[in-house]
Amino acid sequence: MTAKKFEFEYDVYDDISQLSEEDAWLLREARAVTDQAYAPYSNFHVGAVAILENGEIVAGTNQENASYPVGICAERVLLGSVATLHAHVPIKSLAISYNSEEVKSDHPISPCGMCRQALLEYESRLKKPIRLILGGMEGKVYIIKSSSQLLPFAFTSSELI
Ligand code: THU
Repeated sequence: MTAKKFEFEYDVYDDISQLSEEDAWLLREARAVTDQAYAPYSNFHVGAVAILENGEIVAGTNQENASYPVGICAERVLLGSVATLHAHVPIKSLAISYNSEEVKSDHPISPCGMCRQALLEYESRLKKPIRLILGGMEGKVYIIKSSSQLLPFAFTSSELI
């Protein structure tokens, strides 16, 4: 038997003021776009904003549904828009934030499992890591160099060939 360990590095910032100008701008946009979320069931409003390698900006928000499983997360709304509007342009950085009437938005959230799988697919499709900037409306910010780091032992297309 061999015991193995998976580790990954991420950067922790005390708040948005410590970020580069571009990262701070993206996170502010992600915070602002939470207003466009449709989340009447969870009251948990998520905003995702990406800057692409060509400088284009694309946003996504969670869109819920009375039939709960039909709802879609902000990250996958964003990926669908990027793929449609700017096919073949890699995502450079993606900021995610949230706002809620019920819980305090003072720490970062990270993408759900389904979104991690979707982000991984987009990274391998465009052959470029997606840098994540995770934050709430206030408080600490995490930066992760590649979204694939959030999904070790992932199921990928290589299994199907
Ligand atoms: N949600 C996102 O949009 N992104 C995440 O990273 C986590 C969760 C949404 C799904 C649902 O509409 C609400 O947040 C509560 O789970």
